[in-house]
Formats: sequence, C-alpha cells, structure tokens
Amino acid sequence: MIKVREGSNSRMLSVGAYQPSRIVPNSEIVDKIDSSDEWIRQRTGIETRRFADADESVLDMAEAACRQAISRSGIAVEDIDTVILASITYPFQAPSAATALIARLGNPKAAAFDINAACAGFCYGVGMANDFIRAGSSKYVLVVGVEKLSDFLDPYDRGTAFIFADGAGATVIGPSDEPGISPTIWGADADSRDAILMEPTWLAFKHGAPDGIWPNISQQGQTVFRWAVFSMSKAGIRIMEAAGITPDQLGAFIPHQANVRIIDSMAREMKLPESVVIADNIRTSGNTSAASVPIAMSALLEEHPELHGQLALLIGYGAGLVYAGQVVQLPPKW
Ligand code: UT7
Repeated sequence: MIKVREGSNSRMLSVGAYQPSRIVPNSEIVDKIDSSDEWIRQRTGIETRRFADADESVLDMAEAACRQAISRSGIAVEDIDTVILASITYPFQAPSAATALIARLGNPKAAAFDINAACAGFCYGVGMANDFIRAGSSKYVLVVGVEKLSDFLDPYDRGTAFIFADGAGATVIGPSDEPGISPTIWGADADSRDAILMEPTWLAFKHGAPDGIWPNISQQGQTVFRWAVFSMSKAGIRIMEAAGITPDQLGAFIPHQANVRIIDSMAREMKLPESVVIADNIRTSGNTSAASVPIAMSALLEEHPELHGQLALLIGYGAGLVYAGQVVQLPPKW
C-alpha cells in the first residue's frame, strides 16, 4: 500500500499588502468615458484607486506584499516550501511569476506555481494551501494575489476604466493546533465565461492584429452584477454552513472588492448582524482582482486591530465566472 503523510490543521499566520503610491481620483478618469465622480461613487463606491508606474511590475508589487507578510509571520523565508501566485496580468506565459518571485525572495527551491482564477484567485489559493497542509504536502505556504490591471485597461471603456486598479496582497499559512481555515466552497458558472474577457489574445499579434490593439479587459457589468448578488450570497451561506458557524460568530466579512452595492446586498441577503465589520476598501483601492481580498484584509486589520484572531468570511468571484470562499481565523497580532 502507498504510504501517506499525516497533515495538520492550518491557519493564516500573517497578511501583507502593497499598493502603488500613485493615487488616481475619479476626476482623472471621467473625461474619457463621459462619466462623473458622482456617478462612479454612487454606482460603485470608488473614490480613488492606485495605479502603478510604467516601470513598476507585477513582480515588484508581489515581492513587496510577500516581504511584509513574511516578516509579520515570524517564519523565515527558507521555511516556506510552497508558493501560489494568483494573477491575470503577469505578461509572460513561462516561466511562471511564482518562480521569478521565489528567486527574488531568496528561496529558489520552494514549490512554486501560478493560478488563474481571476478575482477569486486569492481564495482559490487559500483553499489549496489549507488542503496541502492538511494532506502533509506542504508546511508553510505563501499565497499572493497580484495585479497590474492598468496595463490591460482601455481608458475609453465605460464599463471598466473606472473600476480596475493595481496592487498586491499576500498571506503566510502554516500549521496550527486548531482548525483556522474552513473547507473551501468553490465552483464556476462557465456558461457565462463571456461576461468578463481579456481580448484579443497574445496570438492575435502573431497573426497581424491591427496596430494600436492590445489585450484589454471588458465586462458585461449588469450580468456580473446580477450573478454576484444572486449567487454569491448563496455561496456565502454555504461557506458558513461548511464551517459550522452562524453569522453572529463572524468578526468580519471580507468579500472581493468589486462594487459596494454588491457587498451591501450580499451582507443583507446573508443576514449579517451589525456587529460584523464589513470590508469596503474598494472606496480607495478600486477593484484589484486577485489582490483585492488580501489588500482589504490588511487594511481592515490596521483599522480594527481588535479583529486579529477573529473569524472572517472571505469570498472571491470573477472572470470564468468562478468563485471560492472560506471562513478563516484572521492572523494573530504581529
Ligand atoms: O471583479 C470582477 C467582477 N465585476 C463586477 O463585479 C462588476 C459588476 N458590475 C458592476 O459593478 C456594475 O454593473 C457597473 C458599475 C459596471 C455598472 O453599473 P450599472 O448600474 O450596472 O450601470 P448600467 O450598465 O446598468 O448603466 C446604467 C446607466 C446607463 O444610462 P441610462 O441608460 O440609465 O440612461 C448607462 O448609459 O448608467 C450609464 N453608464 C454610465 N454613466 C456614467 C454606464 N456606464 C457609465 C459610466 N459613467 N461609466
């Protein structure tokens, strides 16, 4: 019979984030899309977002977030044996961003790979990290979500130009006496995969795409909005059931930061009591896709240090359409 390893419970040991220094107010976006600061605030909650400089890369941002998460975790970088990097904006097919990242971090022997689960990427990664540790395949896993969406935005597109932004967020997940991460509830609705697209493909350039064309993200806003409000609150309820908790046991709700109206309606549908602190970091960060949940988590812990160690409901959803979420015990104070 094949030998199997004994795993252990796991939990988040830390979270770290990096956001570019350039703050971009709505006023800088509106002229090209015939919009207004008021419309963007009312329809999405976004007041400002961060855009990276031209020479600031996905790897630069990922490295900064990871270094902060590692230093807060109390774990040496060499002890990290697995690195999962979630992104849809790393501009190389191979080698992976994760391998470039471990080389930069000075830990080039770790298992490392990229995942593409769009705005659900971080929660997909957290679920995998938990399962790897439980199965004994890994001991300390670094999960990072990072995006430079400003490279793939059409500033004239009324459906996306004001939404997406840049940044990175990371967590170190390691063994724990008590379970600190619930089973992950995840899935897809692949019949709606046209609802968020990045087009044309890189291959289009080989075959003569016209000058001035570049892969840009586009979305059917209403379709995604309705799916998120209807299906993601149901997914949130299933996540809490899988974790064996009721809404009043949560300290925080940290959903993907896509739209404050979606966040508010999910909280209503899931009947979260007023005691649950709700992350609405989208107001100053925009939608950073795979980075949005860890950036929001890091900001929330800075604002509400009392949440360290409390339970939080995480849920990410986006292009695919895909989703994933879990209940986690927020990391201890660093
Ligand atoms: O992270 C990936 C997941 N993505 C999401 O979760 C996105 C979900 N969708 C949304 O957040 C919203 O659909 C948007 C914020 C993208 C758009 O808001 P909406 O309330 O769904 O707008 P709409 O497309 O229904 O348009 C409503 C009105 C229309 O005008 P009329 O026909 O009512 O006169 C549009 O022409 O708003 C107009 N409009 C705009 N006005 C100013 C549409 N886009 C804009 C704009 N600025 N950018």
